[in-house]
Amino acid sequence: EQAVQAQRSGSAVVAVAGKTPDRMTIVYGSQTGNAKRIAEQLARRSEAAGLPVRLLRADAYPQRELALERHLVIVISTQGDGEPPDDARGLFEFIAGKRAPKLPALRFAVLGLGDSSYPQFCVIGRQLDARLAELGGSRFAALGEADVEVEAVATPWAEQTLEQVRELLKQAGTPARVTPLHAVPSRSSQSREQPFMATVLANQRIVARDSERDVRHIELSLEGSGLRYEPGDALGVWPRNPPALVEQWLDALRFDGALKVTHQDRTLALRQWLGQEREITRLNRPFIAALAAASGDGGLTRVLQPEHAAEFAALLAVDQPIDLLHRHPATWQPEMLVAALRPLAPRLYSIASSPKAVGEEVHLTVAVVDYEAHGSAHWGAASDLLAATDEDGRLPVFIEPNERFRLPADGSRDIIMIGPGTGVAPFRAFVQERRESGASGRNWLFFGNRHFTSDFLYQVEWQQALKDGSLHRLDLAFSRDSTDKTYVQQRLREQGAELHAWLKAGANIYVCGDSSHMARDVHAALIDVIATYGSQSPDVAKAWLGELLQQGRYARDVY
Ligand code: 2AM
Repeated sequence: EQAVQAQRSGSAVVAVAGKTPDRMTIVYGSQTGNAKRIAEQLARRSEAAGLPVRLLRADAYPQRELALERHLVIVISTQGDGEPPDDARGLFEFIAGKRAPKLPALRFAVLGLGDSSYPQFCVIGRQLDARLAELGGSRFAALGEADVEVEAVATPWAEQTLEQVRELLKQAGTPARVTPLHAVPSRSSQSREQPFMATVLANQRIVARDSERDVRHIELSLEGSGLRYEPGDALGVWPRNPPALVEQWLDALRFDGALKVTHQDRTLALRQWLGQEREITRLNRPFIAALAAASGDGGLTRVLQPEHAAEFAALLAVDQPIDLLHRHPATWQPEMLVAALRPLAPRLYSIASSPKAVGEEVHLTVAVVDYEAHGSAHWGAASDLLAATDEDGRLPVFIEPNERFRLPADGSRDIIMIGPGTGVAPFRAFVQERRESGASGRNWLFFGNRHFTSDFLYQVEWQQALKDGSLHRLDLAFSRDSTDKTYVQQRLREQGAELHAWLKAGANIYVCGDSSHMARDVHAALIDVIATYGSQSPDVAKAWLGELLQQGRYARDVY
């Protein structure tokens, strides 16, 4: 119960839990929901073991209580560029900063999540772990560092942590109770493992024939699923790999697809492992390491070294695993191959509709990953499946809530939305929602894409929205219509005075899309605008924007 309440309202729980000495606090900082899922699982299991738990998202953690904390677990991801997730910025800065209290009575454990394909792998987890120790805390479990295949590290780490928890309970003389496994009902993690087979109602290409890219507007039925979502949430889609790609793998490796392969007590035909169970469209560090070992290729071994991070990143940006299989012949055992590949993971798409407008449907805006490189086609697992599923086809889906990306509860507040490319998806949901609920606040959209004539996603809908008053301003940036590139951040700067006035008047600001370049550049442009038109130093502007992020008035859904 406590954990359930904790999730809903951080402060209410403090009173409930009081000053129980052996209560454990579990805090998570999550960008895409993985850290949250792991934290919830740990909370459930700790409660079942008889330990009172409070579970909090990092931005709901009352910082003044850190000094009183006795048992603290932090599950936190690192974003690609080495930053904490937005919901944990405040807590991270507090613990890392000068005002952090000494923590001699604290026992703690940190689980870091990250992607080993980035040089900043798990740095936020590492820094928190080191800092808590520096402040005087002692570890009751060693730092865990989980890669994209989160459970492989998180499950044994949680096992170990729970063992320590039981030990602590014994020492405290708390009788072990047998608690029914109720607690923390996580809608998302339950439906993730038991996806709903949603029927495709529509699958339309929404870019012109001559567009360089294929972008689809896809409508799915959630009828009968009981699934609910709000604008800002994402839809998880369990992908399958393109059959033609699976055949390319079998050819390249000279394996028979019917070959039975056993991995971790499961026996399946190799074709099924490659088609439905393993990631074969994305390169990653563990696979390259396995290939380097299997092929004995010194060049591959070299790019794995930290000093060749740039070369490694360049490899990941263009190549798919099949390219490396062709380029670096190796002798694989089928079992070894299956073990070297990551389990196929669901893809998340920001939902492009409001239930108020579309009822029991969910709409997506999907860029189909499909490009030529090294003379052959390259595909994305989920986008290929989505693009290839026609009307009446069915897809396994679930809702991944994103409580940090929400419209203001007060409909009279203005909102500013920045969403180039398919990043525009959640803003279609926002505008639908605000229209249907009769929100009086103004809506301003910044959209950008390659070409005006071919890539203006939902052009007719936006024009209609401008007409019917559900969209108040629309600023566009088409990057490839002129020789010098125009991006949304240039429009932000041009409209700086007005933008600043909206912000000053209390507008919320939302960014969705590419995290590595766009979100960073937009952030910098916002700082400039605030500094220029608020007559502040860049540092003050930066701090203010940071505050907006923490309050959730500035929210990002970036990937
Ligand atoms: P480009 O591909 O022509 O460089 C959606 O992908 C749009 O975002 C495209 O117009 C793309 O332009 C643009 N884009 C690329 N990098 C960007 C960045 N750093 N900031 C903003 N927009 C960017």
